[in-house]
Amino acid sequence: MAAIDMKNIVKKYGDGFPAVNDVSIDVQDGEFMILVGPSGCGKSTLLRMIVGLEDITTGDMMIGDKRVNDLAPRDRNLAMVFQNYALYPHLTVYENIAFPLRLAGAPESEIDQKVREASKTLELDEHLERKPGNLSGGQRQRVAMGRAIVRDADAFLFDEPLSNLDAKLRGQMRTEISRLQKRLGITTVYVTHDQTEAMTLGDRVAVMKRGVLQQLASPRELYENPGNLFVAGFIGSPPMNFLPAEVDGTSVKLPFGTVTISEEKAKRAQGKGLLIAGIRPEHFEDASVKDSPTAGSTFSARVDVVEWLGNEAYAYIPFEAPPEVQAQLTQLEKDLDGESMRTQLVISLDGASRIAEGDEAEIWVDARKIHLFDPSTGENLTVDEARAGRIHGREDPSGMAKAEAMADEGEEIHSADEA
Ligand SMILES: Nc1ncnc2c1ncn2[C@@H]1O[C@H](COP(=O)(O)OP(=O)(O)OP(=O)(O)O)[C@@H](O)[C@H]1O
Ligand SMILES: [Mg+2]
Repeated sequence: MAAIDMKNIVKKYGDGFPAVNDVSIDVQDGEFMILVGPSGCGKSTLLRMIVGLEDITTGDMMIGDKRVNDLAPRDRNLAMVFQNYALYPHLTVYENIAFPLRLAGAPESEIDQKVREASKTLELDEHLERKPGNLSGGQRQRVAMGRAIVRDADAFLFDEPLSNLDAKLRGQMRTEISRLQKRLGITTVYVTHDQTEAMTLGDRVAVMKRGVLQQLASPRELYENPGNLFVAGFIGSPPMNFLPAEVDGTSVKLPFGTVTISEEKAKRAQGKGLLIAGIRPEHFEDASVKDSPTAGSTFSARVDVVEWLGNEAYAYIPFEAPPEVQAQLTQLEKDLDGESMRTQLVISLDGASRIAEGDEAEIWVDARKIHLFDPSTGENLTVDEARAGRIHGREDPSGMAKAEAMADEGEEIHSADEA
């Protein structure tokens, strides 16, 4: 096993496009690290540079205490499981798992011992003599993992290994991978664009946008203290609500009413003009089912749609946003790869709530949970930096600006290609 330390990694493809842009991530020995972000943000490129399938333009890739930039993939001792894991259809499950060992010329006794050990861990014992064609998607996935396990690799690398499975199986496999990783204690880097997978599997999660690392933190830190609008909008489902906000002292004027925030937050937002407030759906509630709505504020609003799910309900409240805020939200929608970001408030209500479509409802909001973002930079002004992991721009603002500028250049190169 080994730690993987990526230091200022840059990848420019032949056309000059910086697919990965000055990314530094320290994966600890035994840690489960997730790389997450929308399509094209550079996740697979980064993973392929760890394994050695892609050259590194600049930066240092350290595995253990060795710099591996110039090492061939087979000399890095890593096991990779891809989205389209190719099993050999004419070989049995046993032989599929044994394959890398046979390739390495291992003695028969060692092969047998390792295959049986892996098969036990993966609960494949009763399938060892079957062919992959007769297995379910989840079983095939486990065979692919078995092949990775027997190699005694220093780390596991996964590139969207579950994206071909249906939702139920995906959930099961997620739990299984998590259990397996904990049991084996093996350093793992896992690529996904699914924020649920990122939140449930990762010890830490690296959120990327257009080749630039946005924030590196535990799932909880990301959820509670997103460093910018992009991370705030990407992590959480349904997503965080973004509303135009005007701060005056400790009062924040929102489209549906005014709430009070702490002096500490107010100080950080002072004099910044029109801001974007971020409040998660679950920080609202039907005021009539809330036991003692003391800590927050209540307001009344017209609810236009209610989706009742049994344990909870989602209510939608449309609102108007001024053009500056609207422009930032439209850009955000684009960055998030089309997640719908209309100017409507989504609030999560207790299943017991009787609020119905068309009601003028009394809604309670927990104003302590509000975030305030600068609409020009997207930066979260009220973030608790001690509990937010690493936010790229906060470490070295000039570095972040430089990386973003490079990404813009890259985009121009791309648009020129398309034209
Ligand atoms: N061989 C290549 N030549 C040129 N550009 C490439 C090449 N491979 C990838 N890119 C570009 O690099 C960027 C990152 O691609 P990458 O495959 O790493 O994204 P990703 O985050 O894995 O996306 P997805 O979720 O769609 O798999 C993209 O803009 C892509 O167009
Ligand atoms: Mg990819």
